Amino acid sequence: MLVFKKNIFRLILCCCGLHFFMTIPVYSQGITYNQHIAPIIQTHCVSCHNPNGVAPFSLMTFTDVSSRAKFIGFVTKTKYMPPFKADNSFQHYKNENILSPEEIQIIQEWVNSGTNEGKRVSKKQQLTILDSHVNKIQNTGILPQQVNISVGMSKSFQITEVGKEEFRFFHIPLQNKDPHYIKSIQFIPGNKKLVHHSRVMIDTTGEIAGIDGLSETDTNIYKYQTKPLADPFLFGWVPGNDQISFPEGTGKLLYPKSDFILNMHYSPSPVETSDSSSIRIQFTDKPVEREVVTLALTESNISNQPFIIKANSTPTFYMRSPLIPEDISLISIMPHMHLLGKSFKAFAVTPAGDLIPLISIPEWDFNWQMTYTFQRYTLVPKGSVIYAEAKYDNTTANERNPNRIPKDVGYGWGTKDEMMNLVIYYVKYKQGDENTVL
Ligand code: HEC
Repeated sequence: MLVFKKNIFRLILCCCGLHFFMTIPVYSQGITYNQHIAPIIQTHCVSCHNPNGVAPFSLMTFTDVSSRAKFIGFVTKTKYMPPFKADNSFQHYKNENILSPEEIQIIQEWVNSGTNEGKRVSKKQQLTILDSHVNKIQNTGILPQQVNISVGMSKSFQITEVGKEEFRFFHIPLQNKDPHYIKSIQFIPGNKKLVHHSRVMIDTTGEIAGIDGLSETDTNIYKYQTKPLADPFLFGWVPGNDQISFPEGTGKLLYPKSDFILNMHYSPSPVETSDSSSIRIQFTDKPVEREVVTLALTESNISNQPFIIKANSTPTFYMRSPLIPEDISLISIMPHMHLLGKSFKAFAVTPAGDLIPLISIPEWDFNWQMTYTFQRYTLVPKGSVIYAEAKYDNTTANERNPNRIPKDVGYGWGTKDEMMNLVIYYVKYKQGDENTVL
């Protein structure tokens, strides 16, 4: 009887929207920057919000944070920051950065109760905390002594038009004689304030050389976008997603005669400036037991063709993989759409009918596309099929719609064209993979 009453009580509380108070201690009396807020900001924000970071301002000190308290309260409550778009109740990732409901609530209470600083830690202690974070920030990436290839744009790209968003393609020749296995790939934006995102591809045909600096609005683009790429998505870079490393004993084959193709997205610049971005590669130092394979589902895998998003429509497209021919272990996943994309979901269905969640992005954000690495190898048994569904909105209700008067949109490399891709990296299954943390 007592249990019953308790449940009713809980139910009423939930219905009243007081759910937080059931599960979260109320701190507002004593929430301080030093005790409660600094650890949250240092764990979730300073990797980008530091003086050398990709974010427009630093959040390393009390003054930095308290002077923007209201704004921080807003961007964390609306989940705009930290920028991580995948739903972690569907699947977990190694590079996950999400505030818990408790952390969001603590920030709210701190903002509403007057942003107290609390007992100061000594200058020395404060410096130690900051130092350890700065070290952590600088130590991400491939160490200089481990770099096997370091290549950049042949000449820096001049941004001469102020206030204009730019989408440009670049060709970085590598022309390696021998095949190699890649352990890590790192993309280094030359102009951190301007490079918004970048997609790294591999071409082995040698026929894309003319693309250097080509704007996506140049009609010559059509010559290139049908060339079969050896690797259509080696890596997708966004701020905070600086590198991908493959697990011990595995490596990604870099074909002989490879060239990098970069698709760069630059934010509008307030001044004339330039960019010279580069790529670093580390090869595996041990023999590779299992090769990392790319499974790329593209527009040709769509089951409800044609892939045309009619003006003023909100269609959903479905794609399916061929039968998976052997037991495999997934390493990472990367969905890709452009500005009309609204949501994306992918899962595998096993021959026994079980569903394996892979990724769900409930609110697609063109600006924050990344490679999601699973926390552990995700096993997909032989005979499974991988399904994906993508929703698009080509109406005026979509704020990102590049056409003020909607028009029919189909496949293409340009940002105003559309795509539906799902790129998965996997290896052949080996016993014990299910327990291997990536
Ligand atoms: C992965 C890198 C990254 C992380 C982690 C990150 N930010 Fe940001 N943040 C950015 C970038 C880049 C911008 C500027 C571009 C934008 O607004 O989208 C930004 C912008 C902001 C803005 C200004 C928003 C606006 O509309 O101008 C605030 C406030 C902010 N971040 C707070 C935070 C807080 C608080 C956290 C941690 C809870 C955080 N950020 C974590 C990269 C990051």
